[in-house]
Amino acid sequence: MDIGVIGCGYVGLVTGACLAELGHSVICVDSNDRKIEMLKMLKPPIYEPGLSTLLEKNKKRLTFTTKISDAVKGAPVIFIAVGTPSKGSGDADLSQVENVVSEIAGCMDSYRLIVEKSTVPVQTGMKIKSVMEMRVKGIPFDVASNPEFLREGTAIDDFLHPDRVVIGVETGKAKDIMKKIYEPISAPIIFTDIKSAEIIKHASNSFLATKISFINAVSIVCELAGANVEEVARGMGLDRRIGDRFLNAGVGFGGSCFPKDISAFRRISDKLGYKFNLLKETERINELIKKKFVEKMEEVLWNLNGKIIGVLGLAFKPNTDDMRSAPSIDIINGLLEDGARVVAYDPVAMGNAKEVLPEIDYKNDIYEVANGADCLVILTEWDVFRNMDIQKVKNLLKTPIIFDGRNIFEREKMEELGFIYIGVGV
Ligand code: UGA
Repeated sequence: MDIGVIGCGYVGLVTGACLAELGHSVICVDSNDRKIEMLKMLKPPIYEPGLSTLLEKNKKRLTFTTKISDAVKGAPVIFIAVGTPSKGSGDADLSQVENVVSEIAGCMDSYRLIVEKSTVPVQTGMKIKSVMEMRVKGIPFDVASNPEFLREGTAIDDFLHPDRVVIGVETGKAKDIMKKIYEPISAPIIFTDIKSAEIIKHASNSFLATKISFINAVSIVCELAGANVEEVARGMGLDRRIGDRFLNAGVGFGGSCFPKDISAFRRISDKLGYKFNLLKETERINELIKKKFVEKMEEVLWNLNGKIIGVLGLAFKPNTDDMRSAPSIDIINGLLEDGARVVAYDPVAMGNAKEVLPEIDYKNDIYEVANGADCLVILTEWDVFRNMDIQKVKNLLKTPIIFDGRNIFEREKMEELGFIYIGVGV
C-alpha cells in the first residue's frame, strides 16, 4: 500500500521504515529540512540499533519530503506521528497534531484514512474528526487510532514482532485498510473503538510505570527491613499473574514517554471527572527514589563537597542516546548542589548529555572515570559496564565504593572483591 507518515521523530521514522519493511511504499514527511536532507542520504537523525540498515534495505520503498501535500497526494492512508509534548500543566500539547490535520484536510481531494500514531489523550480522535469535518467539505474520510508500543533501543523488533497490534476504528472500510497494512505481522490484532484504543496506550504506559514505582517502593521497605528486593522481585515475578518484567528496582523511570504519559493520563482523567491519585503516587515514588539514592551517597561519603564522583551511564536506559527525563539528570544535579565534582561516561549519550548537564567532565571510557574518583556510580545498565575489568576499576578508584543504581552486580561478589557496595533495595 501507499502510506504517508507525518513526523520523522522517533516514532514516525521507525514506523515509516518498518512499514516499508512490510512491503509498503512510504512517504515520510518532516518540516525540518536538515532532518530530511540527512534521511535522503539514509542517515537516521536518531540513535536506534538497526534503523540505519533498515533504511538502506528499504530505500526503494521510502521517500522523504518536507511537504505534507506530497504525502496526502501520494497515499490514501496518512499516519500522524508528530510530537505531543507536555505543557507546564501536564496536559498533552496537541497543537502539532491539529496543525497537521488542518493541512491534510486542506490538500485532500478524495477519501483518506487518518491514523493517530502519536500518543494522545482519549477523545483526540473525536477532535481530529471534527477539525476534518469542518475543513474537508464533503470529501469522505476516516480516523483510526493505532498506538505504538515501541521501546527505544528495541523499537524495530517491537514493531515487527509485537505482543499485539491495537487499532481503534469506526468503519468497516478503515478496519479493512488497517488489516491489510498489518497483514504480514503475525501478532493478535485487537480492534476496538477509537477511544478505547487511545486509553489502551495511556493505561499501558501508566501501568508499567506504576509497576516500576511499586517495586521501587518495595525496595525502600527491603532496605529498612534488611531484605533483598532482587529476591523479592524474583519470588513475585514467577507468579504469572504478576510477571517478572518491569520489576527491576533502580533509580526510577525516565524517557520521553512514561513521565509525559502518566501526567497526561492523570490530567485527562481529572478533566473527565476522576482524580487518578494512584498515578500521582507513581510519580512521587519516582522522584523519591532518586532523592534517596543521593541521600545514601551522602551517608556513605559524608561530605560530598569537593569529592570526585565517577558516573557510569547517563541515558535514561541502555541502547539509546536519549537523555529526556533521564534519572541521571536529577541525581547529578543533586550531587552538584552538594558541591561534588562529577566525571562521567556513557557509550552513546554524551553528546545529548552535554546539553542538559554542561557542568560535568566527560571522559572517554570507564577507566578514565574511575581514575582518582572517590566512588563509582552506575546509573544506566549498559552491558559494557557489566563486563568491565572490575579489578582494574578498583585499583584506579581512590576508595573502592560502588553505588549501583541499577543493581547490575551482586553485593556478595562485590564485597568479596573488597568493594563497599550499595545497590537499590539489596
Ligand atoms: C515505553 C514503553 O515501554 C513502550 O511500550 C512505549 O511504546 C513507549 O514507552 C512509548 O510510549 O513510546 P521506553 O520509554 O522506550 O518505552 O522505555 P522502557 O524500556 O519502557 O523504559 C522506561 C524507563 O523505565 C527507563 O528509564 C527504564 O530504566 C525504567 N525501568 C524499566 C525500570 O526502572 N525498571 C524496569 O524494570 C523497567
